[in-house]
Amino acid sequence: MASFYIKTYGCMMNVYDSDKMANLLVARGYTQVLNPHDADILIFYTCNVREKAVHKLLSDIGRLKTVNAKIIAVGGCIAQAESKRLFERSPSINISFGPQTYHKLPEYIESILKGERKRIIDDTFYKMDKFNICPKKKNVSFSEHIAIQEGCDNFCTYCIVPYTRGREYSRPVKDILNEAKWLLDNGAQEIVLWGQNVNSYNGEAPYITIGQPKATWRIERLLQEVSKLPGLRRLRYSTSHPKDFNEELMRVHNEISVLVPFTHIPVQSGSDKILKQMNRGYTSAEYLAKLDRFRKICPSIQFSSDFIVGFPGETDEDFKDTLRLVEKAKYTISFSFKYSPRSGTPAAKMRDQVPEKVKEQRLEILQDTLLRDQITFNKALIGKTQEILFYKKGKHSKQYIGKNVYMQSVVVENGDDLIGKFRNVLIKSAEENCVIGQVV
Ligand code: 5AD
Ligand code: SF4
Repeated sequence: MASFYIKTYGCMMNVYDSDKMANLLVARGYTQVLNPHDADILIFYTCNVREKAVHKLLSDIGRLKTVNAKIIAVGGCIAQAESKRLFERSPSINISFGPQTYHKLPEYIESILKGERKRIIDDTFYKMDKFNICPKKKNVSFSEHIAIQEGCDNFCTYCIVPYTRGREYSRPVKDILNEAKWLLDNGAQEIVLWGQNVNSYNGEAPYITIGQPKATWRIERLLQEVSKLPGLRRLRYSTSHPKDFNEELMRVHNEISVLVPFTHIPVQSGSDKILKQMNRGYTSAEYLAKLDRFRKICPSIQFSSDFIVGFPGETDEDFKDTLRLVEKAKYTISFSFKYSPRSGTPAAKMRDQVPEKVKEQRLEILQDTLLRDQITFNKALIGKTQEILFYKKGKHSKQYIGKNVYMQSVVVENGDDLIGKFRNVLIKSAEENCVIGQVV
């Protein structure tokens, strides 16, 4: 049977999809290999959110393709948005499949191997067939993601996601609980409920009340139910939209002990004018009021955010508004990007595109400011003992890297293997991007 190699770009949703796709192919008898040169089938699972995605993809295909490769398949968000352009630009691509169609990949591979077809494009929105068709994961990790929702109805004017992932769809509660139970029974200890917009989750309830219409659950109820499953030690969810963040969700942070006191709540800009142009649905004052309310309800809560600098029409004053918001919000960790025009989105056609040089300068200033806050937060942890889950080895032989509940990296030196283990760690010092500690 043929072997396959998957290269995944972009967000955790893509990592999750790639994992499911690999399980599906392994269940059909294909072998997964980690070296592209050993593979008969090369699969590229792509992201189209920012930057020169197509250019990078084509150069990777050129670099990784060998004479052994019989099939090249490109999946995910670029394939959804630009399949025809991909086929024109790279004659070696055989299959282009969107994010809703990866469960069809084995069928398409077989068809090409048998010589029935030479090139296949599938950009259909099959809705959630894929989640229920994929077999259960065999190699369960101590930390697992579960997609609870996919797609987005918000249409932020810069974002390609509503066009590539489609409208919002929430998986039924029953399916999510079954998946969580399977993962926990097979060794998972941390679960991240994942989606483009998880706080608008509205999934079919696991049971019906006689005489009542079919009910749906929101994320608060889902978190409560998942948190009761045996074996779960840490629960997270991501990513949220500030306008959908309600007090019930804030309160469950106090009610569920395994739920981390940390949430990603992307603001994108501090300027009301830019937020309006972005179609974000809130002002900077409304956003900050939500953070304040959250801190009142759950005093231990910490926040992270995403930012875009250089959105069309952003002036120096608008950018200063973003810096002012950062000062007030006090984030623990954040991600910031230069605005990147995506073909087909309204912002790509807006006037007053900001020069690249200005975007670079603003990004540097913003990242310095965010890093300063992160270091201040990390310094305040010195002398405290925290429970850390260890994910991987560090550069030195006895070094291990884990995360605290605030998603900060924690580095320790230890004789025993710590990967996949929880340990109490005394924080000794703080560096730029991590803290150093000692297992106690
Ligand atoms: N340009 C730059 N950043 C973008 N993001 C989404 N679309 C774009 C774009 N066109 C960022 C947002 C989002 C994160 C996942 O990616 O900050 O929250
Ligand atoms: Fe994109 Fe906005 Fe939807 Fe997030 S909320 S996925 S940024 S459209």
